Amino acid sequence: MSNFKRYLVTAALPYANGPVHIGHLAGCYLPADIYVRYQRAQKRDIKFIGGSDEHGVPITIRAMKEGVSPQQIVDKYHALIKESFEQMGISFDIYSRTSNQVHHETAAAFFKKLYDDGLFEEKETEQFYDEKTNTFLADRYITGTCPICANPNAYGDQCERCGSSLSPEQLIHPRSTLSDAVPVKRKTKHWYFPLQNYEEWLKGWILEGHTEWKNNVYGQCKSWLDSGLQSRAMTRDSSWGVKVPLPDAEGKVLYVWFDAPIGYISATKELTETWADYWCKEDTKLVHFIGKDNIVFHCIIFPAMLQAHGGFVLPENVPANEFLNIEGDKVSTSRNWAVWVHEYIKDFPGCEDVLRYVLCSNAPETKDNDFTWKDFQDRNNSELVSIFGNFVNRAFVLMHKLCGGKVPPLHADVMDDTDKNMLAEFEAAKNRVEESIENFKFRDALFEVIDLARKGNKYMQEKEPWIVAKRLEADPAVQKLIDNCLHICLQLTANLAIMINPFLPATAKKMLHLMKVVEKMLDWENAGKTKLLSVGYSLRAPELLFRKIEDAEIEAQVTKLKAGLVKPAQPADTKTEAAKAADAQPDALKEQIVYDDFAKLDLRVGTIVAAEKVPKADKLLKLQVDLGFETRTIVSGIAEHFQPENITGKQVVVVANLAPRKMRGIESNGMILMAEDKAGKLHFVNPIDAIDNGSSVS
Ligand code: 2FM
Ligand code: ZN
Repeated sequence: MSNFKRYLVTAALPYANGPVHIGHLAGCYLPADIYVRYQRAQKRDIKFIGGSDEHGVPITIRAMKEGVSPQQIVDKYHALIKESFEQMGISFDIYSRTSNQVHHETAAAFFKKLYDDGLFEEKETEQFYDEKTNTFLADRYITGTCPICANPNAYGDQCERCGSSLSPEQLIHPRSTLSDAVPVKRKTKHWYFPLQNYEEWLKGWILEGHTEWKNNVYGQCKSWLDSGLQSRAMTRDSSWGVKVPLPDAEGKVLYVWFDAPIGYISATKELTETWADYWCKEDTKLVHFIGKDNIVFHCIIFPAMLQAHGGFVLPENVPANEFLNIEGDKVSTSRNWAVWVHEYIKDFPGCEDVLRYVLCSNAPETKDNDFTWKDFQDRNNSELVSIFGNFVNRAFVLMHKLCGGKVPPLHADVMDDTDKNMLAEFEAAKNRVEESIENFKFRDALFEVIDLARKGNKYMQEKEPWIVAKRLEADPAVQKLIDNCLHICLQLTANLAIMINPFLPATAKKMLHLMKVVEKMLDWENAGKTKLLSVGYSLRAPELLFRKIEDAEIEAQVTKLKAGLVKPAQPADTKTEAAKAADAQPDALKEQIVYDDFAKLDLRVGTIVAAEKVPKADKLLKLQVDLGFETRTIVSGIAEHFQPENITGKQVVVVANLAPRKMRGIESNGMILMAEDKAGKLHFVNPIDAIDNGSSVS
């Protein structure tokens, strides 16, 4: 038993810049919800905090793309996300938002306290600035051509086509996304939080004090701490966010990763007057559920902020999950490679628990995992339908047929070892489920519940009450055997309802209805008990808990995903005129150039004579290209589009006078021209007829 008096559970605040997909659910919302539902069933004092992260560059970028204000974006997506969570049964005690007044006040006061305590460093640095719109530009606001794969729409921090991390200085023809102006450097002042001052303390707290954290979490913390922490700017030049509460900070807001985690505190304040009990008393167990990309913020930066501020509890655990891929490919919202939760709910009404089941039994708890529609169908049809649902259904059908629709008595005089072993399994299974959930091993816990149902089926199969019933006329005493079997199966059904409840709450509810019992029965203290349903109590007629999922439904989903038809939360009628217009337009043309600009390019025909993957770089291929007069090494970001063995011998067009660049330690001498189709697939640009390598293209 733990010595904590109360629990405070948070799940990462998703950016309100788009709908949530199943990777979000699997990453943190579902495990958090299972944990919370279980603790509630244990009657623990617990608060489950969630909300939308409504500040930061992701929001403003989305607003720009849709041609509306940031406020309109967060209003739209906050509502959509909140609804998706509700429909999926994610049972937050509050789902708040960081644009609330309470949050602005709380975050500003937090910042002010650190400022007043002299904990920030004030620094002036040079940052990119758009002179046309008079705004400082976050790296994301600068686009240009990727120096690695020639994507003309790479961002100042990353190229989404080849995945390379970039800085704005590396972009070819950088321009501001706000006005198309060429960004210039300008001085600006910001407040930096010196993380290095907390390094020793963090090492002691995490590396020595929290060796029980999951390997992926502990490992990431260790590598951050081993490579040394540095000051981080906690403010930004922007008009969207929590205003910096200082007199000389016009046009500056708090960095989104400073304000967002404080959102957990603000939301708790909004939820209850006793918020300080949860945040400030040492006997609170604070647990942050997050995805792996949030580890550093929740394990290092936020705890250092809390420690610097003083008076707050620190997280006891941060059980981050890895990522869930879809059909073998990483989720990408920009490529629309995702299964959107609101779409799923529409396509599979009443099957919310099926998705919860599949995402939990296949959760990326220790490594990235893959969601496939086929696996979704298999797990539904052969586990939920054939094992769990089938057991409950058979117990009800047989009880109506052979026991008059009532819970039959248990006759001690005819009990055998099979009966006794089955009954003993209730408690044993309960203990294993409990142990696994307490240790954040939700897959194992769910497996135990299904395994208990599997044992129920086996037990029924061994007892064969339908065969025994054939002997009734000759020997009425065998009714006792039938009674015992169905008594045990029905008590097992009640146990299954309690144990499945944290995972599949809608299913547990349906089972309560069938058994005509009140919700109180789902209290965890009842798990493992063998006398939950009273003898003689009449139960309802059977109803199926799960339906079979047909091949055609699965094929339709795969086709929809592949055709990119799953549109992120933009029903046509709610799209803004600007967004509609943007969709209808081809990529905007770049600014006009004169012939001399073009003439600077030396384009040559070459033949790829060798190609190999660059180790540890998913996107890059190292090519040897024969240009007639020499063979060059060129590193190209095309590995996701072509297999090395399929492209040797191909003629290509090369920018032959591009300055050399080092990528992953390999010098690249030139660039291959590629065309990108609407689906984002790359195609070689090459001469129609084979011609001599080295021929000029103009
Ligand atoms: O990664 C994200 O989606 C962030 N919005 C998570 C924020 S979690 C917390 F700090 F609010
Ligand atoms: Zn690129």
